[in-house]
Amino acid sequence: MSSIDVSKYKYLGHGKNGKVYLMPDGKVIKICRREDRCLEEYKVLKMAEGSSYFPKVYERKGKVMIREYVDGQDLNTYIKKYGLSKNLVLNLIGMVEEFEKLGFKRLDMRGIHIYVTKNEKIKVIDPSMQLIKTVKYPELMLRDLRNSGVIDKFYSVLKDERPDLYKKWNK
Ligand SMILES: Nc1ncnc2c1ncn2[C@@H]1O[C@H](COP(=O)(O)OP(=O)(O)OP(=O)(O)O)[C@@H](O)[C@H]1O
Ligand SMILES: [Mg+2]
Repeated sequence: MSSIDVSKYKYLGHGKNGKVYLMPDGKVIKICRREDRCLEEYKVLKMAEGSSYFPKVYERKGKVMIREYVDGQDLNTYIKKYGLSKNLVLNLIGMVEEFEKLGFKRLDMRGIHIYVTKNEKIKVIDPSMQLIKTVKYPELMLRDLRNSGVIDKFYSVLKDERPDLYKKWNK
């Protein structure tokens, strides 16, 4: 896989750990910078296998990972266009609870890695540090919601629906 020619693939984007392309078969290929990070991301996606909150992961070899394409927009961009519905709040709460169920230590995700798909279903495109850092509530997600101007709406739904979590998250 190391000799893969990505020049004919559609470029989707990049971050600090790599470049991501869409392959003709509809799957996504990520060429990572660091093999250890690639392995960690792969492990997290493998642990999450079967969860509707994550893309499928197909294989990993060295710095290359093949995963499912996610058709959507990141949370921050989505909220700018469409605002924050109660349905979306409930799905974001569901995402954090899914992290806990899966045994993750870091119960947080930046808005940029949270993709909103059809019917406002969530898929986490790029989990990292989920097994390494310990973060007990979604502080960076809440910061992004604050910056998007929808934190009051988020907390009001959380308070009504999940007063237990409201106490822990409302810092
Ligand atoms: N499964 C996917 N489906 C669709 N687009 C994707 C997918 N994975 C990644 N992308 C696109 O590629 C970009 C970079 O991917 P990714 O976040 O995995 O890279 P990264 O280097 O780990 O980023 P960061 O430094 O933010 O952690 C994303 O912002 C997104 O636009
Ligand atoms: Mg990353």
